Amino acid sequence: MKPKVFIFTMIFAATIALAACSSTATVEEGNQPTLQEMAAPTDVTMEEQAAPAADTVSFSMDIMPVLVEFAQPAHSVEGEGGVFLENYEDVMKYVISGDPEGSELYKRLIGDGVDIMPPSGKLPDATIQLFYDWIAQGALNN
Ligand code: HEM
Repeated sequence: MKPKVFIFTMIFAATIALAACSSTATVEEGNQPTLQEMAAPTDVTMEEQAAPAADTVSFSMDIMPVLVEFAQPAHSVEGEGGVFLENYEDVMKYVISGDPEGSELYKRLIGDGVDIMPPSGKLPDATIQLFYDWIAQGALNN
């Protein structure tokens, strides 16, 4: 083979080899996670997996019916202890939005340092949990 032809062939072969290498690298790059993906492999935290967020509690459908059943007529027409719990505005006088433990309404339901309500006996845990979640979720008029 003439030297010129040999050199040309070598350059051609080297070009093909380089092209093959760089295309392989591109394919591999595509499979690599980005830096962001490596730092935050998932949107779901461990806490969320262990304890799923509570469903949104509705004042009109979850909270008010309990008050109608267990707090009235004591806290409607009779206004026992000067307390009325007939509607959202009434109830909010005893609620600190976002702070169940600090809210008189929740303290009454668990008897935390105050006489438990209703006086006939503690409501079921699941019902009390609704009040807790509703207050923690911002005590919405929903
Ligand atoms: C928001 C905070 C509340 C306050 C400050 C409060 C206060 C009072 C007071 C001072 C009385 C009269 C004294 C007594 O019987 O112990 C009373 C009675 C009563 N409360 Fe409450 N209460 C609250 C919430 C509730 C709730 C959430 C319920 C029910 C879910 C409830 C149900 C009752 C009932 C049924 C009575 C009448 C008891 C009877 O006549 O035998 N109260 N409440």
